[in-house]
Amino acid sequence: MNDFETIRRDTLAAIAAASSREALEQVRIAALGRKGAITTAMKGLGALDPEARKAAGATLNRLKDEVAASLEAAAARLGEAQLAARLASERVDVTLPVAPEPQGRIHPISQTIDEVVAIFGEMGFTVAEGPHIEDDFHNFTALNIPPEHPARQELDTFYLPEKADGSRLVLRTHTSPVQIRTMLAQKPPIRIIVPGRTFRSDHDATHSPMFHQVEGLVIDRSTHMGHLKGCLVEFCRAFFDVADLPVRFRPSYFPFTEPSAEVDIGCSRAGGELRIGAGGDWLEILGSGMVHPKVLQNCGIDPGVYQGFAFGMGIERIAMLKYGIPDLRTFYDSDLRWLRHYGFLPLDMPSMVGGLSR
Ligand code: DAH
Repeated sequence: MNDFETIRRDTLAAIAAASSREALEQVRIAALGRKGAITTAMKGLGALDPEARKAAGATLNRLKDEVAASLEAAAARLGEAQLAARLASERVDVTLPVAPEPQGRIHPISQTIDEVVAIFGEMGFTVAEGPHIEDDFHNFTALNIPPEHPARQELDTFYLPEKADGSRLVLRTHTSPVQIRTMLAQKPPIRIIVPGRTFRSDHDATHSPMFHQVEGLVIDRSTHMGHLKGCLVEFCRAFFDVADLPVRFRPSYFPFTEPSAEVDIGCSRAGGELRIGAGGDWLEILGSGMVHPKVLQNCGIDPGVYQGFAFGMGIERIAMLKYGIPDLRTFYDSDLRWLRHYGFLPLDMPSMVGGLSR
């Protein structure tokens, strides 16, 4: 009897002292587990004579019930206490001011590139890149630009000093050499865009010696002019966010495409203010065409099997048109007031689902 009373007192005291559900479980195991005090006492009943066994059995059963009830009550109490502790530690003060708005701004050129990548990315294009310093072959020859072509003139092109063999490297004058690099490096089907820096010896309100272009190239067995048109109309409407934007394809000439087309978008200049959209006027925004068979040949692609289209446009130009930036030179002035005005919030990533810009 004394033994039972000791077990009872110790167990109930341990339950009262348990400060977590884990500690409580240890107490339960010590009392009611396979080798627990009460379990062991129950097993000992068999050795008693029948009278004593009956009395001790009844006492032990009461003890067992009492301990079980006490464990249950303690578990409930600890559960509430743990919940209360968690609520206290995870408390949020909703009256605190919101985190300060980030101070930096995304430059309109980066923003515009991100927007172009988002639109063409959605159409299944991947981004390719190439070096800023090019050789004559990639920048001119492979693109079917003959030696006497005006684009090669000393005036337009930045040449590096002549090498021992008489050849001169150039700062690439357009992103088109990446067409050549891509076609030499991978087999069709090809679907890339190439945003990047380009260089020409030119400087005024609409020209800068360093500027940005984005090139596009699609090569496959049955790619045709309809794909070119559909793709570029879709791009113009998405980029300028005008669903019914008029888009016009005007015959043109580039050495690396045949036929070639320049792409104009509709605008109005009423009241001296330029507005993109229907309005009777036109703005040229990019060059394009079906890749010239000679260019394919220069890259080891059989023009009898494959064909495709290409396009190129100036990033600054489309950024100026979309965001109403009047002078190209301001892009490179690093004027923080300008950036605060024309820049974009760093956490607003352009996407077709989330929106291109705010
Ligand atoms: N490379 C041309 C330029 O810098 C732009 C261009 C026109 C690229 C037509 C193309 C194209 O890929 O098909 O003026």
